[in-house]
Amino acid sequence: MTVPAPKQSGGKPVTMLNSLTESDYHFIRDLVYEHSRINLGDGKRELVFARIGKRMRLNGISSPEAYCELLRSTQGLTELGHLIDVISTNHTHFFREYAHFEFLQQVVLPEWRNLATGQRMNVWSAASSSGEEPYSIAMALDRWMPRLNLDLDWRILATDISSRMLDRAREGSYKASAVEAIDRDWRSCFNKEKVDGELQYRVKDHIRRKVSYHQINLLGKKVPKEATFDLIFCRNVMIYFDRQTQTELIARLQAALKPGAYLMVGHSESLGGIDHGLRLIRPSIYRKTP
Ligand SMILES: C[S@@+](CC[C@H](N)C(=O)[O-])C[C@H]1O[C@@H](n2cnc3c(N)ncnc32)[C@H](O)[C@@H]1O
Repeated sequence: MTVPAPKQSGGKPVTMLNSLTESDYHFIRDLVYEHSRINLGDGKRELVFARIGKRMRLNGISSPEAYCELLRSTQGLTELGHLIDVISTNHTHFFREYAHFEFLQQVVLPEWRNLATGQRMNVWSAASSSGEEPYSIAMALDRWMPRLNLDLDWRILATDISSRMLDRAREGSYKASAVEAIDRDWRSCFNKEKVDGELQYRVKDHIRRKVSYHQINLLGKKVPKEATFDLIFCRNVMIYFDRQTQTELIARLQAALKPGAYLMVGHSESLGGIDHGLRLIRPSIYRKTP
């Protein structure tokens, strides 16, 4: 069976086949797992088919089989990055799971009051998607530190596997609806601008400069060095991994935390059943023993 054909960029219509065979699905599922450790399991065939449609159209390819051939070819590695991009879920928003920000304000920052002026503080937003999470942290630190008379040299490392998300995040420009959904008070952290006639909010320069973006696979070789971070947000990414991968990731995050530093995971992510040396402080908030 076929579905109506969208036009290829060159104008030539491409007829799309509307199913993915089990063996093509397994090939794509295994490739995605090998590269990103995202665990699609057995039940995501329809979803994967829907998501690769755009990549097939952009490549002028009409069948999933031919798309798998492209992935196996010498250009496969470049396409693999795009595949991971369309497969992964990038949903995020400003000040998501606000309890973590309250904890930052009420517990973490008061503890930082004992530190020497100018001390370097490193925060990691691991799996930062399109930037709303690291910019929320940056806006919070920028506003709350002076209120507590904290004068520390803080920086945020924001990383993601998706180069498309990282490009968006670096731009720091968001739809009006995304910014107008958060508390009005935070709007002073943005400049309004018109992009193609549409109102957008761009994170102010002095806040954007505090965040540096790098492409890092959390299960790859480039994960930051031992005992580097005073605070890590690694939220809403573990849910896509199997238990073994989650265990490996938590060991890496634990190693990357300085003694006494905090780790925030997503509200629906539990470290229950994982052998780790972190102390549970509150639901979804952990601390490395000081
Ligand atoms: C749902 S978003 C979470 C964004 C943000 N942390 C939040 O909670 O709002 C998940 C992000 O994880 C990224 N991701 C998936 N697998 C990854 C991996 N192996 N290494 C790094 N990032 C990964 C995806 O590209 C996506 O941007």
